[in-house]
Amino acid sequence: TRKITKICCIGAGYVGGPTMSVIAKKCPEITVTVVDINQERIDQWNDSDLSKLPIYEPGLREIVQETRGKNLFFSTDVDKGIEEAEMIFISVNTPTKTYGKGKGQAADLKYVELCARNIAKIAKTDKIVVEKSTLPVRTAAAIKSILDNSGNGVNFEILSNPEFLAEGTAINDLFHADRVLIGGDDTPSGQEAKDSLSSIYEHWLPKERILQTNVWSSELSKLVANAFLAQRVSSINSISALCEKTDANIEEVSKAIGYDSRIGPKFLNASVGFGGSCFQKDILNLVYIARSFGLQEVADYWEQVIILNDYQKSRFVDHMITTLYNTVAGKKIVIYGWAFKKDTNDTRESAAIYVVDALLEENAEITVYDPQVSENKIYADLDYLDTRSPEENRKLLTVTDEPVKAAMEAHAIAILTEWDEFKNLDWQDIYKSMLKPAFVFDGRRLLNKETMDGIGFKYYKIGQK
Ligand code: NAD
Ligand code: UDX
Repeated sequence: TRKITKICCIGAGYVGGPTMSVIAKKCPEITVTVVDINQERIDQWNDSDLSKLPIYEPGLREIVQETRGKNLFFSTDVDKGIEEAEMIFISVNTPTKTYGKGKGQAADLKYVELCARNIAKIAKTDKIVVEKSTLPVRTAAAIKSILDNSGNGVNFEILSNPEFLAEGTAINDLFHADRVLIGGDDTPSGQEAKDSLSSIYEHWLPKERILQTNVWSSELSKLVANAFLAQRVSSINSISALCEKTDANIEEVSKAIGYDSRIGPKFLNASVGFGGSCFQKDILNLVYIARSFGLQEVADYWEQVIILNDYQKSRFVDHMITTLYNTVAGKKIVIYGWAFKKDTNDTRESAAIYVVDALLEENAEITVYDPQVSENKIYADLDYLDTRSPEENRKLLTVTDEPVKAAMEAHAIAILTEWDEFKNLDWQDIYKSMLKPAFVFDGRRLLNKETMDGIGFKYYKIGQK
């Protein structure tokens, strides 16, 4: 097995940053360079003030502090990174296409292809190229074709090594991965490449948790894993709607079915809808692939997971408006939480964006509090939807860093992210300063109904009558 001493990772995002930090920490003999074309991001990764790192992830700062400048480097010199490395991870974004064929469904592979072309141009020595990004099945073939036609006689091995970390728990997920998946060719050189990558993970994970497959299985398994996880959330959310019509309680139902060891207890928390950069994008991609092979029923089946998720978000808003006497125009509504889940500053596809956009359409006056998301990001998320002008967004919505004060004279509060600190707010105080009746709409089932009722709130918890 070829011993790797120099790694380059293209893409310093939510995956590239934490993954490479952990590899650097666990493999002190390997020099890890993370490169990105985004100068601002690289500057943030290099900032001596660790609170300025571009992503917030518990445990990340400590690892960066320990390894940065020793065997972990962040740079915009992509070409140098490629040239020096023996193994190159491609960890760039693969968003849903917003143009042309497959618009709104297929994954946009232009960033990945640019990386492949750049590697083909720069490489002067043999390289192992690792797909870390989530890619449609058979992308490795396209990458290989680009690399093999570079004309400079370099040998490339292409591996698929999808990442399963979840945001907010990335470091823990990397340290204790359920499994690592490595897809590659069965040729002797393919096997050698797989073993080289495996030996990196073996620094901290038992060998039996490192699965080797063919490239196509590895690529497809990543899409399927996300589809299954999202499907669980949509399944339980569909039942939360039914619970609200009956006297069943979603928490009791989740628990009752989760005790069945075949079903298991995880990912059965009803919510205002799943968000994040992956679930929707990856399912849309799966749907697109199935349709492109003529598998209409398969495509329709998975598409329902997204349809149900959209339904859950609009159902939540509709319930708010009906409860607030069918009008929210001019009413002050405070939003607790903008991130798509707790312990991250990531807001991609966050349910909060869609809930608030719908409330703004009804002319509500919105105040948002999130412990990690910046004011600029919140406005940018809304502006991106293009539902109204940026000026109007700034007129109707304010951002605060004082959640309790923000509740003054508010008609309602909506909890859209399950930040722990929301549990410890002084809800008595909040109640006193709000207009009565004081409504709380809990989209995360975060608070205790008896307590909230006891204080005097009109408290709604998703999945409970
Ligand atoms: P991200 O947007 O946070 O980071 C991607 C980075 O790549 C950006 O900083 C961008 O500037 C950089 N980049 C784009 N093109 C480049 C190029 N040609 N050269 C150099 N840098 C370039 O994305 P992310 O969330 O880290 O996701 C990356 C991939 O990992 C995606 O395919 C995603 O589906 C997958 N993934 C994400 C997660 C997650 O939780 N975010 C989990 C598993 C897998
Ligand atoms: C997901 C996958 O979990 C991870 O393996 C993959 O690598 C990337 O995509 P992530 O999107 O970061 O990770 O977070 P995850 O914990 O999966 O949550 C996704 C969304 O589902 C969040 O909005 C979360 O709040 C929601 N969710 C999750 C629920 O509403 N209920 C649940 O029971 C679980």
